[in-house]
Amino acid sequence: MTWRAAVLTLFPEMFPGPLGLSLAGKALADGLWSLETTDIRDFATGKHRSVDDTPAGGGAGMVMRADIAAAAVDAARVAAPEGTPTLYLSPRGTPLTQERVQNLAEGPGVILLCGRFEGVDQRVLDARDIEEVSIGDYVLSGGDLAALVLMDACVRLLPGVVGNEGTHSEESFASGLLEYPHFTRPREWEGRPIPDVLLSGDHEKIAKWRREQAEALTKARRPDLWEKHRKD
Ligand code: ADE
Repeated sequence: MTWRAAVLTLFPEMFPGPLGLSLAGKALADGLWSLETTDIRDFATGKHRSVDDTPAGGGAGMVMRADIAAAAVDAARVAAPEGTPTLYLSPRGTPLTQERVQNLAEGPGVILLCGRFEGVDQRVLDARDIEEVSIGDYVLSGGDLAALVLMDACVRLLPGVVGNEGTHSEESFASGLLEYPHFTRPREWEGRPIPDVLLSGDHEKIAKWRREQAEALTKARRPDLWEKHRKD
């Protein structure tokens, strides 16, 4: 079954963008997933087709109107398979994790509402029960790039997209640890040799070395992940 992404945006030209290339682009062309982009402005009603207004209470910037965002979300929901979650990309959202990505990739797809300006009128998120998701603790100029990131993370997990099965089980976060370092030829480069153990042919020793490397890296760079890994 095709995994379906519906993106509601003020900048439809941003899509598929980088997802039209490489693995995701091939999977899109092969029909392993589909991408439907809707211009939120198509739902604007006024003479000037404006989608935003000044914030209630004053302050800088503009806020996307609830009625217009809701009309776009409602139309997308009618077209989407049952059980498709609607997510609003926002730095205030629940942080996106590999676990959540896996869970989204196993479902029918996603409806993604991308904001610009200062954000969207809170009432549309409440009234339509839309979950807010963040891709990290930094502020982008809009949700579109975050939507591309989320879709990329999901699409690469779809069956048949990354040919080499087994690839996912060892990569960063799948085990709760960062991934061990990789090496390839030449055997020595700028005076730096490949670690001997990797040339030993002893698969047990190699697996042990990789595990130790993953643990040491995680401890040093991500003490938060290391604590969680120890407890689980
Ligand atoms: N929109 C702006 N910044 C964002 C972020 N960090 N994550 C998701 N959506 C965003």
